Amino acid sequence: PRLAILISGRGSNMLSFIRACEAGELDAEIAVVLSNRPDAAGLRSAADAGIATRCVDHREFPDRESFDRALVETLQPFTPDAVILAGFMRILTPAFITPFAGKLLNIHPSLLPKYPGLHTHQRALDAGDSEAGVTVHFVTPELDGGPPILQARVPIEPGDSAEQLAARVLEREHVIYPIAARWLLQGRLRLDEKGALLDGERI
Ligand code: GRF
Repeated sequence: PRLAILISGRGSNMLSFIRACEAGELDAEIAVVLSNRPDAAGLRSAADAGIATRCVDHREFPDRESFDRALVETLQPFTPDAVILAGFMRILTPAFITPFAGKLLNIHPSLLPKYPGLHTHQRALDAGDSEAGVTVHFVTPELDGGPPILQARVPIEPGDSAEQLAARVLEREHVIYPIAARWLLQGRLRLDEKGALLDGERI
């Protein structure tokens, strides 16, 4: 099976996929890594690992739909079985989501449905939460609102900064995201109109 991974920045989750593939934990080939930012550090790491890279710069498009159509056209020749959003910081429209429906995963650094959107760690700290975490979910047109697949929780320690909490959560991101992708590629996950199923059971 073939993966496309979309990034906007440092790409540490993308690297966790490279590692999982090399370790044989994920039986997949990373066909392409795509960024919307030409300066994304992760593009360089992917190229260094011998993976095809592409950049589709959102600033060159007049609106979200035309950008999304360009993304689809760029990815389709790689015939991905799953598309992995890994710190891809653009809001996607149905022009992108529909062609990859049921094959499209995102990772979001909060215990969804808590804290969709940005600044999740600071918001968890400000709320006085005792734990935080991360969610892998199917992507639907609702921002960070698609059916959850897998979550990991971490404690919030007294005196934590947002950066400390983010680092604790990120470690778990690198563990759970390749697991969820493996389930998808194994055909164990499905998305229907009511939500996500794992091995035929509603999650
Ligand atoms: C991660 O925290 C991810 O959950 C969020 O953006 C960050 C991306 O980090 N959506 P990286 O580029 O994978 O290192």
